[in-house]
Amino acid sequence: MPIAVITGGSTGIGAALARALTASGWRCVLLARNLERLQELADEIGGEAEACDVSNRAEVDQAAARIAEHHPAVHLLVNNAGIPARGTFLELPPERIEQVIRTNYLGGVWCVRAFLPLLEAAEQAQVVNVVSIAGLVTGGAYGPYAAAKHAQLAFSRAIARELAPSGISVLTVNPGPVETEGFPQRDLLASPIARRAVLQPDDVARKIVKALERGRAEIVLPRYLRAVALAESLAPAVISRLLSRGAGRTGALRGRGRPPQ
Ligand SMILES: NC(=O)c1ccc[n+]([C@@H]2O[C@H](COP(=O)([O-])OP(=O)(O)OC[C@H]3O[C@@H](n4cnc5c(N)ncnc54)[C@H](OP(=O)(O)O)[C@@H]3O)[C@@H](O)[C@H]2O)c1
Repeated sequence: MPIAVITGGSTGIGAALARALTASGWRCVLLARNLERLQELADEIGGEAEACDVSNRAEVDQAAARIAEHHPAVHLLVNNAGIPARGTFLELPPERIEQVIRTNYLGGVWCVRAFLPLLEAAEQAQVVNVVSIAGLVTGGAYGPYAAAKHAQLAFSRAIARELAPSGISVLTVNPGPVETEGFPQRDLLASPIARRAVLQPDDVARKIVKALERGRAEIVLPRYLRAVALAESLAPAVISRLLSRGAGRTGALRGRGRPPQ
């Protein structure tokens, strides 16, 4: 049975993906900080739970070593663990800015490095990095989160090239707003029109499984958000002005705006 390691596997997108992969015949090893919740899901899907804070490099190395005792190879690593950071560079406590970089960006780096020998031991292996539309578009109201996601996106694209000679493929996933515990999307869900843009974790999980089966390199969910990403890369100053005006109107620059994705 192929083995999938999923970070942030206790709730939201990670939990939905663990259920979807299990239904497709995978055995899932779930990583997160809260072992109790992780174990509940692992029991439900017949998987395994490992307590691990991905922002702590030593803990990631230890978790990989424990998993290696039971599994000679890992066929899929999903770097999904992430935290929100609702606020700007000037508003957030410095500790939160450091934590979001350590978790959302460096967590994936430490996991790829630690699990590389197990991925190389598999005949064919894949890595999924759950990034965000915030990795492609910069919003003033959630700058530190977007900066961490931009770094994670650059890591994901760079590692795709670096791992290709080892036969390990990389799928980068950039979701828009998804209703989860960490990202409840209250503002969007309160609007009858904007709520249509909000995805559920199961939608994202289904799309990831399909993209893996098709060998895709990068996806944006929903697809129409690719236009926003293209607009920012072609005309960043124009998009920045538009976003600043919108954020000013909603009070987002003062930390009361739409929660980041
Ligand atoms: N929801 C959205 O709108 C959205 C959109 C685009 C991208 N994303 C990205 O999708 C990923 C999953 O988010 P989600 O929306 O599913 O959020 P979620 O429901 O809050 O789940 C986050 C998961 O990450 C774990 N986690 C957090 N910090 C961790 C750490 N330091 N070490 C290990 N595990 C950690 C959490 O468990 P513990 O707290 O027990 O550790 C939990 O299992 C994140 O990378 C997020 O940035 C989300």
